[in-house]
Amino acid sequence: MDAEIIELDLDRLPAVVDLCRQALDLPEDAAEAPAILDTLTTRAAADRPVLLIGAVRGAELVGVLVGSVAQRDPRLGHVDLVAVAPRERRRGVGRALLAEAERRLAGLGAVELLLAGNPPYYAWPGVDVRYTPAVCAALRLGYRQDRTAWNMTADLSEGSPALRSTEAAERRLAGQGVTIRRAEPADLAALAAFARATFGGTWDGELAGSVGRPDAGAHLAERDGEILGFAAYGSARPSWFGPMGTAPAAEGSGIGGVLLRRCLRDQAVAGIGAAQIGWVGPVPFYSGSAGARIERVFFLYRKAIDGHPVG
Ligand SMILES: CC(C)(COP(=O)(O)OP(=O)(O)OC[C@H]1O[C@@H](n2cnc3c(N)ncnc32)[C@H](O)[C@@H]1OP(=O)(O)O)[C@@H](O)C(=O)NCCC(=O)NCCS
Repeated sequence: MDAEIIELDLDRLPAVVDLCRQALDLPEDAAEAPAILDTLTTRAAADRPVLLIGAVRGAELVGVLVGSVAQRDPRLGHVDLVAVAPRERRRGVGRALLAEAERRLAGLGAVELLLAGNPPYYAWPGVDVRYTPAVCAALRLGYRQDRTAWNMTADLSEGSPALRSTEAAERRLAGQGVTIRRAEPADLAALAAFARATFGGTWDGELAGSVGRPDAGAHLAERDGEILGFAAYGSARPSWFGPMGTAPAAEGSGIGGVLLRRCLRDQAVAGIGAAQIGWVGPVPFYSGSAGARIERVFFLYRKAIDGHPVG
């Protein structure tokens, strides 16, 4: 019997989370399945069209796919997550889910489908290369790799360089009139404006997802009420760090390292053993400031879609 592909209501989320706990082969992803699904479905749906489809065999959920449309360009559809129960692999379930996602996202106006994160609500930049069956399936189903992205891992166990004190640097910065403090919800508008004016693109979503939210937070640097930099964590997943930015005029002053380590310290206090610095970025900065190393590598895929089923 072929699995049936159906649209899932958000009230099926607990079953979707259970399935992802089994089907996401990397333990760090399985462990964060509840936060990942909350980010990609409930939170994302407040801001963009979200597609939640499942493969069912009888009453049992055997596969799931979350898709969305890019806010910055509605012609781009995204597959945010696809997972099939281990015992159901290589039976065409993944293929059927992706074909249905292509049909439905084309119906919403997408002309291209990306197997890539759709910020600000994303769980991965693309397909982790260690999800090798997913890499094989993407190639088999006509997707083309167009970019590579990587995370860095910062060890947060005691004695790690990521947790070394920021006190002396903060005292030195205070002598130059620079204050470093935790960001509060009242800072959100100024932080978003700073990020937009300084770095172009918008980090509004990530900032709103970090400041004052559970398992998340942000720190900022300011002088005379003017923001000079910020760092945020936990927006999409509790163990993930980012984004961060320092005003070009303040670069080299040590602000960035202090902001980074303040966030990593919060994450360590929350019980996180290793932070993921997502979708980087300045490798030497994170290596030098927190002893972080490149670890997770992601391939990003894309494919033109015309509303016809694949395969
Ligand atoms: C990726 C995944 C969803 C594929 O689901 P699936 O139901 O097994 O996929 P299908 O049976 O539809 O396979 C489609 C094609 O992909 C290729 N493929 C899938 N798994 C493969 C594997 N282990 N090795 C080689 N090719 C593979 C094959 O060409 C296959 O077609 P074929 O069986 O006719 O040759 C599943 O392996 C999975 O859940 N992995 C863990 C989660 C994950 O990696 N998600 C993606 C990151 S979010």
